[in-house]
Amino acid sequence: MFGFKNKEDESSLQVPKHIGIIMDGNGRWAKTRMQPRVLGHKAGMEALQEVAKAASRMGVQVLTVYAFSTENWSRPEKEVKFIMNLPVEFYDRYVPELHRQGVKIQMIGDVDRLPAATSDSLRRAEELTADNQGMILNFALNYGGRAELTKAVQKIVKQVQVGALEADQVTDQVISSHLYTGVLPEEVRDPELIIRTSGEMRLSNFMPWQSAYSEFYFTDTLWPDFDAQSLEEAVQEYNRRNRRFGGV
Ligand code: FPP
Repeated sequence: MFGFKNKEDESSLQVPKHIGIIMDGNGRWAKTRMQPRVLGHKAGMEALQEVAKAASRMGVQVLTVYAFSTENWSRPEKEVKFIMNLPVEFYDRYVPELHRQGVKIQMIGDVDRLPAATSDSLRRAEELTADNQGMILNFALNYGGRAELTKAVQKIVKQVQVGALEADQVTDQVISSHLYTGVLPEEVRDPELIIRTSGEMRLSNFMPWQSAYSEFYFTDTLWPDFDAQSLEEAVQEYNRRNRRFGGV
């Protein structure tokens, strides 16, 4: 149950259909505890499963989590290796319970370039949960928004070249359907709310197209400390915003 302080808040609360999260601050979280950075990522994975369960209970339809960007390969090899193993651990420890909750796991990004064990775990999770009707937990892994747009443009240009599409038939909708997020149901492709933790205030190549009308919520909380209560606060803040989509 969504734990609002009073009934009024709860009944009038609008839950965003799609929430995107830029999970930042794992390294700093570990540093404040004088632990190696990788332990911050491990704690980040635990926060992720808690927040995913809370979002699913709340009625969120899609939760996209930015787990690894195309730029993250420049990190020390040991750290990259550790992060790449997290989906394997996530599959064993957390996917069974998410599956019982009806959560459907999907992924976006250049998944073919991930280590085989990483992509195998994610594919197994996708297959296991393919028929679930609950929240979609969408992993953005080896994801970059500009690369996503570039790929979409290449696919569309090829269709124009073979005469399957006229140039003036290339609409917003056509572009949207050719992005990685084109695999999501059309009405929930774009996040209404994007959360970034750890005090950073930028998108870092996360969903540049899809975020055109998103509300942004920035918090100083480091990702491993972000929990169900933090999510609730973000959704309450979202409800205080006045979304006009360019109108009055
Ligand atoms: C950014 O924090 C975080 C990441 C690059 C990795 C995020 C990954 C997880 C939270 C776990 C994902 C789990 C699965 C199953 C894939 P940072 O390291 O940049 O933190 P810093 O800015 O404090 O250094």
